[in-house]
Amino acid sequence: MDRMGWKARHPNHDLRLNMDKKINFDTRLVRTGSDPKNQKGVINPPVYRASTVIFPTVKAMKDAEKIKFDTTFYGVLGTPTTFALEDAMAEIEGGYRAVSVSSGLAAITTALITFLKSGDHLLMVDSVYGPTRNFCNTTLKNFGIETTYYDPLIGTKIKELIKPETKIIFTESPGSYTFEIQNIPAIVKIAHEHNIKVILDNTWSAGYYFKPFDYSVDISIQATTKYQAGHADVILGHIIAKTKQDWFELKLTTGALGQAVAPDVCYLALRGIRTLSVRLEEHQKNAIEVANWLSKRPEVDTILHPAFTSCPGHEIWQRDFTGSSGLFSIILKDFSTKQVNEMLDHMDYFAMGFSWGGFESLIVPCDPTKIRSATKWNASGPLLRIHVGQEDVQDLIKDLERGLNRLSGKKI
Ligand SMILES: Cc1ncc(COP(=O)(O)O)c(C=O)c1O
Repeated sequence: MDRMGWKARHPNHDLRLNMDKKINFDTRLVRTGSDPKNQKGVINPPVYRASTVIFPTVKAMKDAEKIKFDTTFYGVLGTPTTFALEDAMAEIEGGYRAVSVSSGLAAITTALITFLKSGDHLLMVDSVYGPTRNFCNTTLKNFGIETTYYDPLIGTKIKELIKPETKIIFTESPGSYTFEIQNIPAIVKIAHEHNIKVILDNTWSAGYYFKPFDYSVDISIQATTKYQAGHADVILGHIIAKTKQDWFELKLTTGALGQAVAPDVCYLALRGIRTLSVRLEEHQKNAIEVANWLSKRPEVDTILHPAFTSCPGHEIWQRDFTGSSGLFSIILKDFSTKQVNEMLDHMDYFAMGFSWGGFESLIVPCDPTKIRSATKWNASGPLLRIHVGQEDVQDLIKDLERGLNRLSGKKI
């Protein structure tokens, strides 16, 4: 695949390592964004910290300005460390190129404002990450952009919601907290028949278990904060474009906004990517074991894990995904908030806190009734979102067992 400016930035690089899709994915994951021949043999890219980049002549400066998105021109636009990570993110998702921004949320908001203008209409999935909904209901609304929320399981019926002004269909699959799997190919087909772009928040799959561009999605979002960085110490986001034109539009917006990321965090994310496949496999294995165990507990009503038949859209997950990560939810039977708090306040290994995708196990309560507008949330009891980390899975199960006993008032 032609990546504009890539050869110029990596004159001595063996391009096969980054480009050849015949090389197995895990091998590419280890080699991508690495350019030892241009770094005195050092396997990892150095952390280039820069505001100022200097030029030897006026001509060199003017020439560089013409290709400023493809060369090291000014710190805000990135340094070789940023570019190395962007190459890796594009490689993981299978896109044309990636753009780095300050957080996963910034990736979402930047993509939306790049492709929407005043008077446009946006179709937004009802199970979307809460801060994305907030952005639509505040900033986009203030700029005269109308949002209609739609049922995550809508499939081909999305057609009925399209207006002449609709420019974007935003998808997130599985949905935040409630894990509905969307029929992305069906939505993309209808969107493209109407000249509408599809944006996907692909964070849950880490770009590893779902390949958005194989399904003709236009723009993929990664909260790099989660699995790529993988160690709960980085906030970072990426927008990955399928086409050169869309990538360029995104660069114009990030340049105009002054969206810059520190090379140090790019370095950490690139380091995380080297172990992405082994970490994800461990998250997957542990999460399935924990979810299986939970499915047999009398306190649990429903397992919302895409690999389980009880998860809405499970058959689509089976068709389109190649695996599952470490994040899922459970719906409890009808327990009170006090009982849930009694469970959560005394966990030994499952910590309470937001974000996910790091090495650690996490658990948080959520009430989706408050964050739905197109659909009604009618669950039998409270919902808990669980991230299964890299701890010993038997320790995690014992922690949950003690917690569920506290919940139901059983003597331990
Ligand atoms: C699905 C999803 N997308 C985006 C984000 C935002 O990522 P960040 O925390 O880097 O802003 C999150 C964060 O939890 C998320 O869960």
